[in-house]
Amino acid sequence: MKMLQQATLLEEFRFPGTLFRVRKIPIAQGWRKIYIKWEGNNPTGTQKDRAAYMHVRRAIEQGYDTVTVGTCGNFGASLAYFANLHGMRAVIYVPSRYTNGRVREMRKYNAEIVYVDGSYEDAVERSVLDAMKYGYYDSNPGSVNSRVALESFKAIAYEIVAALGSVPDLVSVPMGNGTTLAGIYMGFREMLDMGISRKLPVMLGATTGLGNQIAETLKRGSEELVPLREDEVRETEYNEPLVSIKAFDGEYALEAIRRSGGLAFEFYDEELLQLAEELRMEGIDPLPASSSSLGAIERYLEFGGYFENAVAVVTGRRF
Ligand SMILES: Cc1ncc(COP(=O)(O)O)c(C=O)c1O
Repeated sequence: MKMLQQATLLEEFRFPGTLFRVRKIPIAQGWRKIYIKWEGNNPTGTQKDRAAYMHVRRAIEQGYDTVTVGTCGNFGASLAYFANLHGMRAVIYVPSRYTNGRVREMRKYNAEIVYVDGSYEDAVERSVLDAMKYGYYDSNPGSVNSRVALESFKAIAYEIVAALGSVPDLVSVPMGNGTTLAGIYMGFREMLDMGISRKLPVMLGATTGLGNQIAETLKRGSEELVPLREDEVRETEYNEPLVSIKAFDGEYALEAIRRSGGLAFEFYDEELLQLAEELRMEGIDPLPASSSSLGAIERYLEFGGYFENAVAVVTGRRF
């Protein structure tokens, strides 16, 4: 009975889903329309809340009492929030070398933190192994329930179409594992297949120049994801969500970018900070890593790409 009540509560959660037109930044001043899909009003300030919400809901439906994930910060904060909201235990694995302040927030939501020596991918691996060992619900990307996160991001595509009345020419998404981008693309595909819409947007992946497997694969023109060595990537205070040695949803993201005629663009920290500054003119306080999505639209234009309207997915900062 208790489980049933929790599940009902989860059903009722609604994401704010804000979309607004950018007016002040230079590329928005001509006839082209640039929109921000603002995920900063979600409970913990990022789009990862959507995946965490779906995972916790699924975990409750399946009778689990503990959820786990390996995280660079944002997803862990999201999972801790929703687990706490619904009386579940959250065990979150964090690479000890990561510097962002979201662990404090995870603790505030009563999560148990396990530090892992090594990379983000090592933290995910430990979380997956412990999920099997201790019977936790596994919320990790690339794992048994990874489809849940992809499904959760489809809603962003639906919300964009609902707000604009049609599919935009271009959708730009900050990219680490590629889950968000791939999930949004699947949403657009679903609408096309169901006859709700008549085209697909060009998908742009916006990421760090300091190591992302999907961008590197596209750069090298390889069909398959290229292996990256640990010394080929470097996390910094600003690029952490975008770095990936192994992109867990890389195949799906590659397919989305390639099939839609899209591209990936890389940004360094100074550029991320500059882009965040540009977005601040629009009255939001974005996470610098996620401001890369605006940069990708600017760069697409510089490369001679044509579009009439474009949407950049941007998340907030909450630490
Ligand atoms: C705020 C934010 N933006 C973008 C990303 C990258 O998303 P994905 O790993 O789904 O590609 C992350 C990943 O954690 C994130 O936290």
